[in-house]
Amino acid sequence: MAIVTLSNDFQASLMAGLKDLHEIQQFKHYIKKNKAFVQLVDSLKKILSEDQHVVIRGLANNSEVFFEAFIGEFGVFYGAIERTGIKIDCKYTGCNRKALGLHNDDAVDIYNQPKFGFIQVTKPDPLKSVSNGVVVIDDLVKKLKFENPKLLDDLLAIPVPMLSYGINYISDQRDEIITGEPILYKKDGMYQVRFDDNRIAHYYYKKKLKQSHEELCMIENFIKIAHNIKHIYHLECGDILIHNNLTTLHDRSECSLLINEDGHFDSREIMVSFAR
Ligand SMILES: [Fe+2]
Repeated sequence: MAIVTLSNDFQASLMAGLKDLHEIQQFKHYIKKNKAFVQLVDSLKKILSEDQHVVIRGLANNSEVFFEAFIGEFGVFYGAIERTGIKIDCKYTGCNRKALGLHNDDAVDIYNQPKFGFIQVTKPDPLKSVSNGVVVIDDLVKKLKFENPKLLDDLLAIPVPMLSYGINYISDQRDEIITGEPILYKKDGMYQVRFDDNRIAHYYYKKKLKQSHEELCMIENFIKIAHNIKHIYHLECGDILIHNNLTTLHDRSECSLLINEDGHFDSREIMVSFAR
């Protein structure tokens, strides 16, 4: 479990240093020139290369511009920040009040799937202690090699269909995308993953086809073992979870809603974006 907390002194100097900054270039300059921040980013990169994910506590700055500048330290900024709360009428997964199953983001993006995902909690859930889970695929492979090598072989060999209209909700392109890749693959010496159960279900629903019992069992066994080795984090307001989106899966427990007299909801809010 990798959690990095900024000391009170570090947080105070950071708040003082960032309070008058507004432009992206100002934030980028601060991040590049502040010695403590350079060391922080360096440490986070080392942890990410070893643990494939990390939680940072104390880097609370609710500004999208700062978030973008920070993400830029880890790769090419994705181009958009999703800022969302939990809704009742939610048309995509990010604002769903129900639990989100294990997945990696933009799993249908074969050529340009983002490498690092960043989730910052900007408002806590009004009632529940929501958990964010992370499964490190390398750990899962090690377990399978010992416990179930046949399942590992299947996950590396058997293509599984996914269907999506566009890569994600911000895509302008809404053409049908169908992929057929194994859930696990090896690239640059690392085991990687491509998995989104919703997209798989969507394929069978749209094509009016029945998923084979063998495929269903393979996926259910994969998910069951993944849950056994899942790291669970209860993110506080301001916490940022960085996950390698290619070498880990993530999920989220269900959220609650507080309804006001005027019908307005209060709910957990997050900022999400990626680096390629
Ligand atoms: Fe996600």
